[in-house]
Amino acid sequence: YNINKIRNFSIIAHIDHGKSTLADRILEFTGAVTDREMKQQFLDQMDIERERGITIKAQTVRLKYKALNGEEYILNLIDTPGHVDFSYEVSRSLAACEGALLVVDASQGVEAQTLANCYLAIENDLEIIPVLNKIDLPSADPERVKQEIEEVIGLDAQDAILASAKEGIGTQEILEAVVHQIPAPTGDPEAPLQALIFDSWFDPYQGVVVLVRIVNGTLKPDMKIRMMASGNTYEVGSVGIFTPTLKKTDSLQAGEVGFITAAIKQVRDVQIGDTITEEKRPALKPLPGFKPVKSMVFCGLYPVDSGQYEQLKEAVEKLWLNDPAFSYEPEQSAALGFGFRCGFLGLLHMEIVKERLEREFELTLLSTAPSVSYKVLLKDGSTIYVQNPAQMPPQEKIECIMEPRVRMEIYVPRAYVGPVMGLCDEKRGKQLDMKYLSQDRVLLTYELPFNEIVLDFYDKLKSVTRGYASIDYELTDYKPAEMVKMDILINKVPVDALSIIVHKDKAYYRGRELVSKLRSVIPRQLFEVVIQAAIGSRVIARERVAPLRKDVTAKCYGGDITRKRKLLEKQKEGKKRMKQVGRVEIPQEAFLSVLKTD
Ligand code: GTP
Repeated sequence: YNINKIRNFSIIAHIDHGKSTLADRILEFTGAVTDREMKQQFLDQMDIERERGITIKAQTVRLKYKALNGEEYILNLIDTPGHVDFSYEVSRSLAACEGALLVVDASQGVEAQTLANCYLAIENDLEIIPVLNKIDLPSADPERVKQEIEEVIGLDAQDAILASAKEGIGTQEILEAVVHQIPAPTGDPEAPLQALIFDSWFDPYQGVVVLVRIVNGTLKPDMKIRMMASGNTYEVGSVGIFTPTLKKTDSLQAGEVGFITAAIKQVRDVQIGDTITEEKRPALKPLPGFKPVKSMVFCGLYPVDSGQYEQLKEAVEKLWLNDPAFSYEPEQSAALGFGFRCGFLGLLHMEIVKERLEREFELTLLSTAPSVSYKVLLKDGSTIYVQNPAQMPPQEKIECIMEPRVRMEIYVPRAYVGPVMGLCDEKRGKQLDMKYLSQDRVLLTYELPFNEIVLDFYDKLKSVTRGYASIDYELTDYKPAEMVKMDILINKVPVDALSIIVHKDKAYYRGRELVSKLRSVIPRQLFEVVIQAAIGSRVIARERVAPLRKDVTAKCYGGDITRKRKLLEKQKEGKKRMKQVGRVEIPQEAFLSVLKTD
């Protein structure tokens, strides 16, 4: 152990700029991973991450690097997620580092998460090493991108390393820069223990594993420890490092990054950002913590088969124990029965949780359209937060509805500025700033209602910019808005799970749009189905689905029995995500049709 030979660093980048690929190259180069095929993209562990090609959970690995000066260094590479939903995880990973590699795609330039992550790194006082990746691409333009980094971020990029993670170009140069430019950690292994908790998860073999950065002191097995914020005390089971596989060690000392286990029952018992100290020789004060994470997007999750409610309950409880960003509470819907109102960091987090629940717990779920949390001032002087449109109190009890707003930064090529501004206007946005980053690229800053973003902002932005825009946003505050609750009635019966909260000026339009969407997704039944949109008792739009006349199997000419059976099988498949509401079968798409606007 020699603290001067330790380097703790992260890789920060915009999505797809090559962070995982570069991490792989570094692992390979330092010999941490030899079996290349097997361990491809080792740092992205979860299945879903791999499939979607995104990093969610931060991982960490210890590497040995023999530098050109002949000295051997210990490098702790702490991975960070790359999606806006997970910026809080980036922030806490960075708190464990002294430096960061800023990876920018040399054919693309600075994007929203490049800047957002870079700010987080600067806030954490990290030494930042710019790396221009993908220089193998013919479209790479390192000089332009260097200039962008200087102009937008204000970082000296003249010595940026030119690399191709794909072809292994620049890997050694990057490692040399890590060793020579990033400072060694400071800290005293003899001082009272202060260890920062920056991640934890449940491991089926080890139980709860806590990831720590030792700032001062030494952590050893059998030591009695106390979590300074929660007050919980434990006896340390084991301590160790990731090589990348879990490996036990005798101790973790100041400057090191590693894990501890301590017979902790559930991930919830460990507060990320808390400081671990020694019970018998405690530190005077805890390390600065992190902002607690908060759910921002909500939706109802219901089992398609109501017999699966108990299974769903067990599943959300289990998931909750291991994902502090996920929240849930039981909810009852007249239309859908028993389910849960769940809270997520953002839309991607929502999709991932739903997918995990279905995949890991073998459930078939129906989700309602995502909603944000409204702050509602009531006439009786009280304030409530409403996350489920169906629970919005009646208009006459409401003094004022306040909607959450975000500050959004949009990076876009100049050619698309017009359409993006049009879109933001349509979404009730307020322009705060517009800045030319270079001749061709513009940074627009807007204040926008969060509910419009949850609705379909991403998709629309993508389509008006052909995928060339990138965004980052943060919640700012609540502002009064003229919102109304719109109900959907099917054959005169309100379907609570289809209620939405919409701006008054858009209600008519959205109402018409929604009923026509519903008309197209609700299959024809044996009787007529009337779909209505209403605000209070006022019907603002109406459509009908004509009754079914012909027998579906009629077109099989009555002859071929196997074909007939196949057709019926197919119908059954299609029914899986249907929910019987009154007498009407409503498919999953209906609940999400509110999301798709034209
Ligand atoms: P997230 O995990 O979503 O944050 O993405 P990432 O930044 O980790 O990107 P990843 O490493 O998955 O790379 C994105 C894509 O770029 C992949 O298809 C890579 O094969 C490709 N890529 C990465 N580095 C290079 C490079 O140096 N040159 C070229 N041509 N392609 C690269």
